[in-house]
Amino acid sequence: MSQSNTGTFTLTDNASGESFELPVIPGSMGPSVIDVRKLYAQTGHFTYDPGFTSTGSCESGLTFIDGDIGMLLHRGYSIEDLAEKSDFMDVAHLLLYGELPTQKQKEKFVHDVTYHTMLHEQLAYFYRGFRRDAHPMAIMCGVVGGLSAFYHDSTDIQDEHQRMVASFRLLAKMPTIAAMAYKYSVGQPFNYPRNDLSYAENFLYMMFAVPAEEYVISPTVARAMDRILILHADHEQNASTSTVRLAGSSGANPFACIAAGVASLWGPAHGGANEAVLKMLEEIGHKDNIPEFIERAKDKDDPFRLMGFGHRVYKNYDPRAKVMQKSCHEVLAELNLDDPLLELAMELEKIALSDPYFVEKKLFPNVDFYSGIVLKALGFPTSMFTVLFAVARTVGWVAQWKEMIEEPGQKIGRPRQLYTGPTQRDYVALEKRS
Ligand code: ACO
Repeated sequence: MSQSNTGTFTLTDNASGESFELPVIPGSMGPSVIDVRKLYAQTGHFTYDPGFTSTGSCESGLTFIDGDIGMLLHRGYSIEDLAEKSDFMDVAHLLLYGELPTQKQKEKFVHDVTYHTMLHEQLAYFYRGFRRDAHPMAIMCGVVGGLSAFYHDSTDIQDEHQRMVASFRLLAKMPTIAAMAYKYSVGQPFNYPRNDLSYAENFLYMMFAVPAEEYVISPTVARAMDRILILHADHEQNASTSTVRLAGSSGANPFACIAAGVASLWGPAHGGANEAVLKMLEEIGHKDNIPEFIERAKDKDDPFRLMGFGHRVYKNYDPRAKVMQKSCHEVLAELNLDDPLLELAMELEKIALSDPYFVEKKLFPNVDFYSGIVLKALGFPTSMFTVLFAVARTVGWVAQWKEMIEEPGQKIGRPRQLYTGPTQRDYVALEKRS
């Protein structure tokens, strides 16, 4: 394949000698893409890219990542600035509407979101159908999917108003659903949301308050919670977001699409990694054991991987991991906690980053490496870590889903394949099969 200076690629079929011009579409930042939409019609070939390592699946104006330099921007604003200077409602508005809100817009947005924080009372009975020891992500998959059975008046995706109401509902109800999943697992009564609190404070309140005593929300804890929500709000076309887009491309309602995203996030290679990091650190137990685990991570015959390390896109330090590491120190200092796991994590990071295997493969800590330690300090049990990620990512999923639905000429997502199964053969009757 050769590139011309007129913004096209020429693809030559060496067998027939035929050449095909492929247009190149530039983005506002980052690599341009080779437009292969007409490739099959022109050449009779598909492209082959399992895992989508070189494939742009959509056009998007939400989030930009430069993995080589460790840059993450939402609508042009750096994640470092957003994490330090804004709050989660600002970032949610930015992702959904494209701009940071004015004071007046923010008041309205916060009002609109808080107005939807309660769940249909009937949904509370849903929880009782689950075992008490169910993983809260299993409950999340069920209850989020169940929302479409309760909010029929916001499932018409062609209606702009209904799309907006569904967006508010998902953003507002996700913390309520998540906190109820936790309360159910520990056998405590559900807390109704409190609209006098901020998004992060209300989530903490629903998670940790009990009717027997007053729950005082620490500003440090609320700020740390808010920052975690910001850091996880969106991350371009990752597995769960792509799942939401693919589910939504068929015209499925937004509640069903977000439930699909929750399911995809659950895996340990994606949102389940923060839970896995903490388990790994506990298993390592002591600094002296680090070399043994590093060796296991490098051994091709051992399935063990250093959890919280490596990323499909970042081949440099994940900028969210830097903010998270700082937040980790602040939270532990202000709460007067001394978690030996933080020391262990920092030592593990130091050793891994000086090991040629990790250096050559450009494996750096990702956001999940430190988030588990912060979440533990905030009082979250390990099983809730991925749930929290789902709460934070909901706004990204919804914004990406909305962007796709509002795109002119939007098409159902339908990848093709390289078929390697048997060629056509005659049917064999049961008595003749050997
Ligand atoms: N520990 C040890 N080796 C690793 C690790 C790791 N954490 N991550 C990647 N490698 C190695 C692979 O074995 C592979 O080696 P090879 O080229 O010799 O075969 C090479 O680095 C490239 O890895 P891939 O798996 O091909 O990279 P991919 O982009 O497909 O995977 C992933 C990225 C899934 C994140 C991977 O790095 C991983 O499993 N990390 C641990 C889980 C984790 O932390 N996930 C969180 C991701 S961030 C998020 O979802 C918020």
